[in-house]
Amino acid sequence: MEIDQGVVDALQHAKHVLVFTGAGVSAESGIPTFRDALSGLWARFDPAALATREAFRRDPSFVWGWYEWRRMQVYKAQPNLAHRAIAELSANVAKLTLITQNVDDLHERAGSIDVIHLHGSLSTPRCFACARFAVEPLPPPDEPIEGRHLEPPRCGHCGGKLRPGVVWFGESLPTQALAQSFAAAKDCDVLLSVGTSGVVEPAAQIPDIAWRAGATVVHINPDTKGVRGAREFWLEGRASEVLPQLLAKGFRRQRIEFIR
Ligand code: OAD
Repeated sequence: MEIDQGVVDALQHAKHVLVFTGAGVSAESGIPTFRDALSGLWARFDPAALATREAFRRDPSFVWGWYEWRRMQVYKAQPNLAHRAIAELSANVAKLTLITQNVDDLHERAGSIDVIHLHGSLSTPRCFACARFAVEPLPPPDEPIEGRHLEPPRCGHCGGKLRPGVVWFGESLPTQALAQSFAAAKDCDVLLSVGTSGVVEPAAQIPDIAWRAGATVVHINPDTKGVRGAREFWLEGRASEVLPQLLAKGFRRQRIEFIR
């Protein structure tokens, strides 16, 4: 795939790059996305029965078992070339902010630091009753069995049931993470939106905020979609292919200068 020179130029001159990722960045690590037609989680499971407070109140062991199944998938997965390219990019630009909607830890395991998790994390459960984070880290998950019921562990503070540390439908996003994300969107010169359908609010506003503030916005996604024209690009392809290509192309000149 030919990468537009406008993208390369913008990236080379950027003082602040914002990378905004969704489930597509982890797809090639074997973690299912949410909305892909056949394999997406929300094509196979009803979000109302799994990703709401009402669902947990109704059947906590079903919900906890399902999230443990997902935690095991992540535990067994490895970061892919897209996660690694993003970590490498941060070493090649003046400033990089990484915001993810993903609840896995594959960015961190690829070497990224200070990742902003807008939708929480599978590995940091909270108490359903008192809302405090768990005292003890979760042990490694058991072998995944789809549909298995598992009794949630108890809160070390109040004895209530622990719930997954992710944001469910109808819940607010973590205040600080959202504020940091909006501020970074207003400040960045280039925003790379990688592997997200961009339909879940308020996260979906982030590329728009950046574009309206004058940033170049680049979407990396195998899906096709129109762009507004000025300062917006669509690089059609898988994240693990496009990002390493972009990195090689965008930073070749600096590397050669460095070697000389
Ligand atoms: P979606 O499943 O909505 O979108 C995944 C996107 O990744 C789609 O646009 C795919 O075309 C794209 N994609 C698939 N494979 C890819 C690849 N190899 N490289 C690049 N892109 C690829 O996932 P999200 O946008 O992350 O919310 O969904 C947003 C939120 O909806 C999630 O964070 C989750 C869900 O409900 C919470 O958990 C709160």
